[in-house]
Amino acid sequence: SELLDLYQEVILDHRKRPRNFRSMENADFQADGHNPLCGDRVTVFLKVHNGIIEDVSFQGEGCAISIASASLMTESLKGKSSQEAEGLFGKFHDLVTDESTHGEEGLSLGKLGVLAGVKAFPMRVKCATLAWHTLHAALAHENKMATTE
Ligand code: FES
Ligand code: FES
Repeated sequence: SELLDLYQEVILDHRKRPRNFRSMENADFQADGHNPLCGDRVTVFLKVHNGIIEDVSFQGEGCAISIASASLMTESLKGKSSQEAEGLFGKFHDLVTDESTHGEEGLSLGKLGVLAGVKAFPMRVKCATLAWHTLHAALAHENKMATTE
């Protein structure tokens, strides 16, 4: 469908040119995430000032979907408060676990940069959520070396 084509285009673009793909010195929050199904790993770095995410980046290795999803995630987080970031994580969680979400709604939320991977390849939920789980761990643990499965 046209919608799937659009999602795939977004994924390919972010896969080819991942945004904010770099490590960060003196990150305020940092976590390592790991997809147990394939062994791929991602690290998420955050700089937070007065509760606002001033910088966010990631590094790691993974499939196209995991990299694209991480890249899209970083784009959606800059300038958000850490509470808003947790809110986006919650929204993402609901969407990937609700199989009835399609079409219009999927598209507009896709613009938030959170859904492309899952909607194009529903069987790849673990790939698409890897960076988000890692972000959640980083924010939840408030220390420099959180880890998550
Ligand atoms: Fe919610 Fe994985 S996205 S538990
Ligand atoms: Fe490993 Fe997708 S196959 S993260």
